[in-house]
Amino acid sequence: MEYQNLQFSNDNGFVTITISREKALNALNKQTMLELEQYFSKDGLEKIDSIKGIILTGAGTKAFVAGADIKEFLGMDTEGGMAMAQRGHDIFFAIERFPRPVIAAVNGFALGGGCELAMACHMRICSENARFGQPEVNLGIIPGYGGTQRLIQYIGKGKAMELLMTADMIKADEAHRLGLVNHVVAQEELLAKARAILEKIASKGPLAIAKIIASVNAYFDHQQDGFNSEVRSFGATTGTSDFVEGATAFVEKRKANFTGK
Ligand code: CAA
Repeated sequence: MEYQNLQFSNDNGFVTITISREKALNALNKQTMLELEQYFSKDGLEKIDSIKGIILTGAGTKAFVAGADIKEFLGMDTEGGMAMAQRGHDIFFAIERFPRPVIAAVNGFALGGGCELAMACHMRICSENARFGQPEVNLGIIPGYGGTQRLIQYIGKGKAMELLMTADMIKADEAHRLGLVNHVVAQEELLAKARAILEKIASKGPLAIAKIIASVNAYFDHQQDGFNSEVRSFGATTGTSDFVEGATAFVEKRKANFTGK
């Protein structure tokens, strides 16, 4: 598939994906959602062995993503709305379950579907001008890409209720204080900060990192028992060459050289 709205750069396995619809503040239209699905459910998985980590960001310095594309909403009925939300959930789950670290580098507005997209990533780093919010009630709708569920996970029920019902936007420092973002940095340092975290993670065993992602996600998955998931994941990692290498390197007082096997 030819990508139109996602731009990719790959520096030695560190992939940066830029959502590039700057004139529409990078709003998630159908084509952009299709491309996110294509990458996180197919192309990215096919190339997984060559990927060390992903930075997801928005084009320009004003917006990460200003939400779902409101211009595509007109004429949508209940059936269409449910289909849109279900599809969004599937795509954002693919991001959340992606077996390499995915960091949202939030470079401006992260509203509605944009805040939801950032929350589906494994971590969020934002610039000082970033603004977060779920303004859907202003449109007479509710968040449809997981916002009512994931916002609670990061900031707790009471504060999530407030932001979801008032549609208030919060600034970067408050998002940080609430635990919605991991770090706040100057705009020009945003990608470098995300990259530094990915580089640190890339020095660990990739199989162990994939199992961390699966195990932490299991906590929030009502179909699974997270503790059981951890037992299985721990067992899976102890059966790897990376574990032999990691433990041997510790005993030999040297740096481990992980191969992902
Ligand atoms: N969809 C489509 N176009 C959007 C958009 C969106 N979500 N957000 C911004 N744009 C477009 C504007 O229409 C405008 O385009 P035109 O120049 O062609 O009119 C352009 O981006 C620039 O936007 P503004 O002129 O509005 O810029 P501003 O600086 O005055 O305001 C803003 C910035 C506060 C982010 C404002 O654009 C805004 O409120 N955007 C909508 C935010 C929103 O409601 N998001 C939630 C969408 S619903 C959703 O996401 C549901 C879900 O959970 C899946």
